[in-house]
Amino acid sequence: MNVTPFWLAGRPATGDEELTVAHPYDGRVVGAAAVPTPAQVEEAVAAADAVRAAAAALPIHVRAEALAHVSRRLAERADEIARLITAENGKPLMWARTEVARAVSTFRFAAEETRRWSGTVQRLDTDPAAAGRMAYISRVPRGPVLGIAPFNFPLNLTAHKVAPAIAVGAPIVVKPAPATPLSALLLGELLAETDLPAGMFSVLPVPNDRAGGLVDDPRLPVVSFTGSVPVGWAIRDRVPRKHVTLELGGNGAAVVLPDADLDWAASRIALFSNYQAGQSCIAVQRVYVDRSVQEEFLPRLVAAVEGLVTGDPWDEATQVGPLVSEDAARRVAAWVDEAVAAGARVLAGGTREGAAYAPTVLADVPADARVARDEVFGPVLLVQAVDGVDEAFKLVNDSAFGLQAGVFTRSLDVAFRAHRELEVGGVVIGDVPSYRADQMPYGGVKDSGVGREGLRSAMADYTEEKVMVLTGLTL
Ligand code: SIN
Repeated sequence: MNVTPFWLAGRPATGDEELTVAHPYDGRVVGAAAVPTPAQVEEAVAAADAVRAAAAALPIHVRAEALAHVSRRLAERADEIARLITAENGKPLMWARTEVARAVSTFRFAAEETRRWSGTVQRLDTDPAAAGRMAYISRVPRGPVLGIAPFNFPLNLTAHKVAPAIAVGAPIVVKPAPATPLSALLLGELLAETDLPAGMFSVLPVPNDRAGGLVDDPRLPVVSFTGSVPVGWAIRDRVPRKHVTLELGGNGAAVVLPDADLDWAASRIALFSNYQAGQSCIAVQRVYVDRSVQEEFLPRLVAAVEGLVTGDPWDEATQVGPLVSEDAARRVAAWVDEAVAAGARVLAGGTREGAAYAPTVLADVPADARVARDEVFGPVLLVQAVDGVDEAFKLVNDSAFGLQAGVFTRSLDVAFRAHRELEVGGVVIGDVPSYRADQMPYGGVKDSGVGREGLRSAMADYTEEKVMVLTGLTL
């Protein structure tokens, strides 16, 4: 079996260990990644630190061309890369192809944003004491970034760490998820084709229990983490002086109001509670439907869920494949069984086969059940009837999380009210909370995290303002 090298300061390397990668659908071994030794990790971090000043001084056209190159190469190799994502993650090809297309855009947006990344000027002669003075304000990198990526979008969520770092001229060390390192390593291959200086990027498939040293290392002053809630907040508590951004979990809610297009709402909610087997932080988990349309809506929703094509992720028609592991599917089953024992009714699904869990709809779920309160990260949907917008919004906000929410309405008043009142990072009107455009700000409040991705927002997060005051000017 081929062992994929990791990327140490821009060059391929192998250590004395490897990480085996298995396909979630049938357990078949699909590859292996070389694991760096502690000395190699040290070398990568030292190289990122050493190139810090040169990276910040890289001309914009060099950064933009490198980013555009990666975007083009992802597009050229799209089919092969989608297959790699399906192999290591188990998501159906249809979603793997979507992920590659998104990563193409993510790098393209970064190339565009870096060209717009200019300083601003502020006249200071608004006050007599500052006559003849002006400030030039630019954003400078805080320093090398440690990007810790999750398994659920092994390519595009890695891209969301790497692309903004390059765009602002910050070196980056990527730690991919141990279950899915191959897509990030392939990204390393494309970055190695560019003119970026050595040390600008490393991709290190370090096991989770050895990542603490990277988190603690003062030469990596920015940590951008996407993953679980307890790990994310533990990182922030561990290094309070670092700039830590966290994209964590959610238990996404959708509200269906009487003026909604019920067929559209049912089909979108069905698909986006189950895409990637529910393994997205913005998958729909909770649905609050106005009681006046519940009877019309519920059968449409159940039919749409039951109509989803499940099965082999390699089949182009499959919409719902396995979870990332059998353990993950067992946990989902245990949470559903617990809710059912407490009085929930199963309207669809509720069965497990290996790592696959059937798309499931539950009603009458007690408010304190784990499927209601926690992040299921599986293909499970809870439906509850509500009496109007007040109750719906109250229930959406009755959550420890606050990533995105969807409101199916045609009313502008309700849309602005949702934007004002819902405690989330983003409100999607007329669609599911799962909608994400890669160029828009994306992130959460409450337990869902801190900081924003989306190219421009992440570029702001990776940098800080620096002022130069010009004196004695004739303005
Ligand atoms: C996530 O799971 O947080 C990312 C969702 C997305 O990028 O669509």
